[in-house]
Amino acid sequence: MISRELNETITRTGPGTDAGAVMRRYWQPAALADELQGKRPVVPVKLLGEDLVLFRDSTGKLGLIDRACPHRGADLCFGRLEENGLRCPFHGWHFDHSGQCVEQPGEPEGSRMHEQIRVASYPVVEKNGIIFAFMGPGEPPEFPNFDCFRAPETHVFAFKGLWACNWLQAMEVGIDPAHASFLHRFLQDEDPADSYGKQFRDKAADTDIPMTRLLREYPRPDITVEETEYGLRLIALRHLEGGKTHVRVTNQIFPEAISIPMSREMIITQWHVPIDDENCYWYSMFTSFGAPVNKAKMREQRLKEHRLPDYAPIRNKANNYGFDPEEQARETYTGMGLDINVHDQWAVESPGPIFDRTREHLGKTDVAIIRYRRMLRAAIAALKEGREDALPMRNGVDPKAVYGPVSNDTIAETGDWLRASTDGDAARRAGCAGWDARTPR
Ligand code: FES
Ligand SMILES: [Fe+2]
Repeated sequence: MISRELNETITRTGPGTDAGAVMRRYWQPAALADELQGKRPVVPVKLLGEDLVLFRDSTGKLGLIDRACPHRGADLCFGRLEENGLRCPFHGWHFDHSGQCVEQPGEPEGSRMHEQIRVASYPVVEKNGIIFAFMGPGEPPEFPNFDCFRAPETHVFAFKGLWACNWLQAMEVGIDPAHASFLHRFLQDEDPADSYGKQFRDKAADTDIPMTRLLREYPRPDITVEETEYGLRLIALRHLEGGKTHVRVTNQIFPEAISIPMSREMIITQWHVPIDDENCYWYSMFTSFGAPVNKAKMREQRLKEHRLPDYAPIRNKANNYGFDPEEQARETYTGMGLDINVHDQWAVESPGPIFDRTREHLGKTDVAIIRYRRMLRAAIAALKEGREDALPMRNGVDPKAVYGPVSNDTIAETGDWLRASTDGDAARRAGCAGWDARTPR
């Protein structure tokens, strides 16, 4: 448990907040590229408590600027999309990608007032289906060479979903390897052949054991956590019969992403991005080391569970997440259906919009959560002392030299589980035909 004051410090990310200052030193997912596919590519974006508008103009250039017109506050999401930016429909003031006002057609001829008018604007970059924004001071950092960024567009699928809670409790579920044995427990194992695009439904590593059974039958993982150049590496060991060990390697990528295995073929890199302090989006990049991703199928699976345009889940608090006591008795641990995202959503939303951590009781399996909070506090302290270069991936590490991170499930036949995991990852990379997934070291 932590103090009320610390809980405030590590959860709030709006302008002027401590954790918000840390977040603003990293690229943040702002929208899916899918959202700009329509005839008029202009969408509202609320990010770290700031109201913005994202657009792609007729020259194909992206812009992310303040949503409120600096004249008298009208909503620029209704702006006229023109060459070189957006024009406010109220009095025709025109803003370019940099947020500079370039024209005020109602002001007197020859007026140069527009030169003084500028709204906030942030650099944006599109990467494999996600538009990332940099909202910090100074130059944006380079992108790390993570698999989700290195893989070609054919091998990455991106999607997002809305959760009605603070980003930190959303992220904390992703660095909690113990919950999968309970929250995502299936009392029956379905045929892993039907597993495409779903998490925990494949077979474990190179065995015939469905992941669902393995997680169910071995609920007490040994968890170790190591600090790395990008965040934390989590190793969860489940000791099986016959001296075998199931090794699951997952990662926390500072400040608010995780990287986890999804199946033998795919990994998930997932950001938990603050919209404001009480709502967040998860943004996932599903990266394949095998065949190109079947994007149509993966999109269809997920669109069935979400409502556009805001990607709000159809099962939610208002309908009890579809809770069915019969199902809970016979089929799933939660009674909330087979989509594990819904389970996680309930787990992170039901503690309330910002969980009061003065009331928590962390156990041994929460070790990564404790370590993560320590990292975040250290980053906050460093920024306060003006030591930006003490932040993860800002600390003299060349982001381009950061690969992986390794996220996999392996069954080790002997006690040398680290070797088994490393070899399993190397074999998967070496066998990747669609792109060069080998780690150049
Ligand atoms: S309010 Fe936007 S131009 Fe007047
Ligand atoms: Fe989960």
